[in-house]
Amino acid sequence: MSAHAAAARDERELLAAGLEASGALRSRRWTGAFTTVPRHVFVPRFYAGPGEDGEYELLDGTDPGQRERWLAEAYQDEPLPTEVEDGGAWRSSSSQPSLMARMLEALEVTGGERVLEIGTGTGYNAALLCEGLGSGRVVSIDIDAGLVETARGRLRQLGYSPVLAAADGAAGYPAGAPYDRIIATCSLPRVPAAWLAQMVPGGLIMVNLYRELGGGALALLRAGDGQASGHFAPFFGGFMPTRTVPPGTAIETITASAGQDGERRKTALAAGMLGDDAFGMLAALRLPGVQKTGLLPDGEPEQAWLTADDGSWAYQAEGSGTVVQGGPRRLWDLLEEAHRDWDALGRPGRGEFGLTVTSGGEHLLWCGDERRHEWPI
Ligand SMILES: C[S@@+](CC[C@H](N)C(=O)[O-])C[C@H]1O[C@@H](n2cnc3c(N)ncnc32)[C@H](O)[C@@H]1O
Repeated sequence: MSAHAAAARDERELLAAGLEASGALRSRRWTGAFTTVPRHVFVPRFYAGPGEDGEYELLDGTDPGQRERWLAEAYQDEPLPTEVEDGGAWRSSSSQPSLMARMLEALEVTGGERVLEIGTGTGYNAALLCEGLGSGRVVSIDIDAGLVETARGRLRQLGYSPVLAAADGAAGYPAGAPYDRIIATCSLPRVPAAWLAQMVPGGLIMVNLYRELGGGALALLRAGDGQASGHFAPFFGGFMPTRTVPPGTAIETITASAGQDGERRKTALAAGMLGDDAFGMLAALRLPGVQKTGLLPDGEPEQAWLTADDGSWAYQAEGSGTVVQGGPRRLWDLLEEAHRDWDALGRPGRGEFGLTVTSGGEHLLWCGDERRHEWPI
């Protein structure tokens, strides 16, 4: 074995041991997969950073001067962006290994399940699925045909042969249906009806519901009778959005608000609460289409803005205890309403919330096993 191969083996054994120690890996099946599949093969080039200057640095495994650092960073428990747009947004990445591990464990496979992955990306997660379940049970699709072909070559090089296709995950992949599991590694604003139609009864769907406010809401839904229902994961499970999500309009709305009279009033709710693990998720789910933007006006305290595509806006200057709102809807009132509900429920954690997607496509958010409180979202 070459020194490079031995170093790579050591790195992935260290990664798997770390994931086991943190509790992210719990089974022999997935620990074995992380110990076996070489992540570096799937990320021959990735971006490190951003640094303090906001810039990313490309690390290239074929550059002898970078090789050692590239290999070590490829096995850190970090997401690795492989394609970054001019503004800094990620177009594709290898997801954070601990999140991948937690998701694979939460799929509760016992062997024999057929899995559809949405978001092939580098192909690393597809390789883990192939290692854990066998290539014949894995289908993986990505909207980007170039990524799919690159992943195909890497997977083949390692002896894996899942079905791969370039397709929009919103339609699932009917040719490979039915599936026992669907796992999405990009986020979508809704659970597509096509997924429900392609699941076996009792199968599981795992997807991060895309919200402009983030929130990392990772739903684990059991399918049956044309609907699907289940709790959100107790951990943050945020992914990059499907490429079909339109760009936000926050800056345009903030600029337009300058010519409008806003309503100013006192509020007991600080914008910082959006950073709370559980309330942040609830707020994101309850306020679809609402974006948060931080502004730092010259010599003034930071402002937290909420904006929506219908031209609604609200902002709070840090520490002011005051909110100013304008446009057709009062976004801060909606945020406060969600906070009141959360408080009344005893401030439950993210894993106490759940989601039901009905056969008609309605998305109902609820809390507690008894599901007494339901909000359409
Ligand atoms: C976080 S990356 C996936 C990481 C991947 N599972 C891996 O192991 O490397 C998200 C991927 O979702 C893909 N994607 C975005 N929108 C999609 C869509 N509508 N359908 C299918 N794939 C999509 C992107 O091209 C990107 O490669």
